[in-house]
Amino acid sequence: MAENIVRIIRSFNYYPRIDKIEGFTEGAKAIINGKECITFSSNDYLGLSRHPRMIEAAIEATRLFGVGSGGSRLTAGTQAPHCLLEAKIAEFKGTEDAMVFSAGYLANIGIMPALIGGTLKKLVLSFDPQNKELLEPTEIFVDQLAHASIIDGISLTAKGGNKVPVQIFKNRDMAHLEALLEDSTAGNKLVVSDGVFSLHGRMAPLDQMVQVAKKFNAEIYVDDAHSTGIFGENGRGTAEFYGVENEIAFQVGTLSKAFGGQGGFIASSKDLCDYLRVAARTHMFQTSMPAGIAMALIVAIDLIKEEPWRRQRLIAISEKVRKNLTSLGFNIFGSTTQIVPVGFENEVKAKKAAEMLMDDGIFAPPYYYPAVGQDEAMVRVNLTAIHTDEEIEKLLNSLENIGQKLGII
Ligand SMILES: Cc1ncc(COP(=O)(O)O)c(C=O)c1O
Repeated sequence: MAENIVRIIRSFNYYPRIDKIEGFTEGAKAIINGKECITFSSNDYLGLSRHPRMIEAAIEATRLFGVGSGGSRLTAGTQAPHCLLEAKIAEFKGTEDAMVFSAGYLANIGIMPALIGGTLKKLVLSFDPQNKELLEPTEIFVDQLAHASIIDGISLTAKGGNKVPVQIFKNRDMAHLEALLEDSTAGNKLVVSDGVFSLHGRMAPLDQMVQVAKKFNAEIYVDDAHSTGIFGENGRGTAEFYGVENEIAFQVGTLSKAFGGQGGFIASSKDLCDYLRVAARTHMFQTSMPAGIAMALIVAIDLIKEEPWRRQRLIAISEKVRKNLTSLGFNIFGSTTQIVPVGFENEVKAKKAAEMLMDDGIFAPPYYYPAVGQDEAMVRVNLTAIHTDEEIEKLLNSLENIGQKLGII
């Protein structure tokens, strides 16, 4: 069956090209499929992943603790670097505690079901069957463009016959969210959104979301994967940018993007983290992140503090690219961030545009249905702090030529 599906997808030319990065040469330049290209596709937004201090920290910790951690956090996999990293994230985010996962994906699919239901809730109800708070049903309100890991996390809340109603609100549409919350009779309401949407580069209006959620006594869960380390005066993310950090109950993020490493986290109260330590299944049943990565991430947080020029440059060049592409006549889907999608009308043109970019030595893959809406075929440009001015000029010139040749602008 699977073979048949893939053959049909290939025959319709829908199977994505998976390009191979053979190594990095300098800055954002890499050898891809045998050719040196400037990568405009990486989530290493601050250019930290190959920072010498991070590499040194990873090597030193790997020598001490080994390549693999050898266990899950509840068995042999809690090592000093994991605890140091959690303390460092809590200090960075200004929360009482933090908890790390081996990936942002694993954070969402572990936290979400643990928050909504789970075995521990059943256990506590067996001691205290009248516990009003636990008996109250929960309803989830999720943005339609939320990341796949959030959607999968929500699906897992239904495990064991748990019935959790889910309402989907239109992307960033607070009037729609308000109307849905108004209709809800659930005692617990959880609003869930990305901080920055990963394909369209738009920010969730957290300031308005907080106002709406307050009206209905709803809590907010934000996955700030593409914003932590970048936005806000100290780079603490979308909630800092909007000045609403204290109003977001669940601040989740990834360590795999601006932090230049690998992992996911939640920054919150000690009690909530302690609860998740024994309730989030991806924490309990998954081998913890290697100590080398954990120590490198501690350095990444220092670098984010010590080198604000990285996020300042990223924000400045992103603004320049967005402005230039818009004035050339491209649709950039309302992006206001370092993720700049460039509309190419349909998947044939988007694929062609990506090929033409590659011919010019620029790596920026195409995205098309079902990854994005049917009328949203795009080439996604991800900017990083280490792109040079010349590389940005080359990108803009190349996109202008390609846009004209393909009749987009
Ligand atoms: C919003 C969001 N959450 C979570 C993830 C997954 O994070 P990770 O790559 O660390 O597993 C991504 C990845 O792109 C994302 O965009």
